[in-house]
Amino acid sequence: MNKNGTGPGRVRDALLIGAALAVITYLHYTTPPERIEYHALYRAAYYLPVIYAGLRFGLTGGVAVPIVASLLYAPWVILFIGRPEQGVLPAIADILLLNGAGWVTGMLQEVESRRRREYLLYAEKQREVREELERRAVRISEMNRELERRLNEKKELEEQLRRADKLAALGQLVAGVAHEIKNPIGVVKTTVQVMEREFTGNEHVAEFTRVIKDECDRMNQRLSQFLGFARPAEPALADVDPREAVETTLEMLGKYLPERRVTVEKELEAGLPAARADDSQLRQVLLNLIINAVEAMPDGGELTIGANLNRDDPGYVTFVVGDTGAGIPEPDLARIFDPFYTTKPTGTGLGLAVAHRIVDAHGGFIEVESGPGQGTTFRVSLPVARRA
Ligand SMILES: Nc1ncnc2c1ncn2[C@@H]1O[C@H](COP(=O)(O)OP(=O)(O)OP(=O)(O)O)[C@@H](O)[C@H]1O
Ligand SMILES: [Mg+2]
Repeated sequence: MNKNGTGPGRVRDALLIGAALAVITYLHYTTPPERIEYHALYRAAYYLPVIYAGLRFGLTGGVAVPIVASLLYAPWVILFIGRPEQGVLPAIADILLLNGAGWVTGMLQEVESRRRREYLLYAEKQREVREELERRAVRISEMNRELERRLNEKKELEEQLRRADKLAALGQLVAGVAHEIKNPIGVVKTTVQVMEREFTGNEHVAEFTRVIKDECDRMNQRLSQFLGFARPAEPALADVDPREAVETTLEMLGKYLPERRVTVEKELEAGLPAARADDSQLRQVLLNLIINAVEAMPDGGELTIGANLNRDDPGYVTFVVGDTGAGIPEPDLARIFDPFYTTKPTGTGLGLAVAHRIVDAHGGFIEVESGPGQGTTFRVSLPVARRA
């Protein structure tokens, strides 16, 4: 940075100072020596270019210009030496003072411009520090977000673990109870069958035994469901093409969807890797989710079913089942995977619990996104099959 302004400005100022010196000197030499008061005035006038030079050119100007002025003025003093009435002594004193004034002004100016330079340096440094601080603030807020994301992840994992524990404990209990009930039901059913044979021809008895048999069958069916939940079969893992799994599941549903005025929107990503899964268990999970979706849209709607590579972890294939139904209220979201949690008059509340168990056994995870009026989307992520 140029401390004294630009080049042309400096030249102009130097010329101005030179011209002032010339004019004052000219006046000295052309004014009769006896006009003391005029000469005193001219001597004083030298201070103007000297001080200006000191201000404008620092110590260099403050020293050089009074020397030049002294050299210009000295011959005039010498010419009139020996004539004390012309004020020789005050003239010499003035020359000294003039030089002194020039030096002091120049020096002060140097100090001032050094201070200005220091200030500019300081300001520059401050700007750098501020920028660094801003950069750090951005980094801290990024770290905060990352931390928050990890905490959420941890919370979700803990929630999944909690659910898995709960499911396992409940599973054992249900298995025990189901087993205990299954035998007496078997006894009831065979006894009724014996009764049927004993009382052939009696219409009333036939009617009663039919009802008892039907109810026994229904109970057995439920118990099988419970046992399926309580003692899920080990998944027989194989490489499963995600597109094929989705397509065959939809085929199994046949006319079920159009009859309920549900249209299907397929979103199958091309070039998906195979998933490591038990084919029939995967279809069971998808069926449970689809049936829930359809039940959430009693007046029809759109079912989205798709498969894509997991957005956060490419080690997983994600199956998506979405609906345009009423959605699940926030407080209920935490309970939908709980066994026997249902909001349906004839539901068992086992659909999602079973789906969760199956997905757990696959080393995968299941997520739900829902809100009142925005429908519900379930995402089931299963590990990608490792290529041989
Ligand atoms: N797609 C969905 N939209 C709205 N609510 C849903 C959806 N899926 C599940 N739910 C809620 O979660 C509850 C539990 O579902 P889950 O499949 O476990 O049991 P269910 O459907 O009630 O009974 P089941 O599947 O045994 O016949 C449902 O009762 C319902 O309240
Ligand atoms: Mg269900």
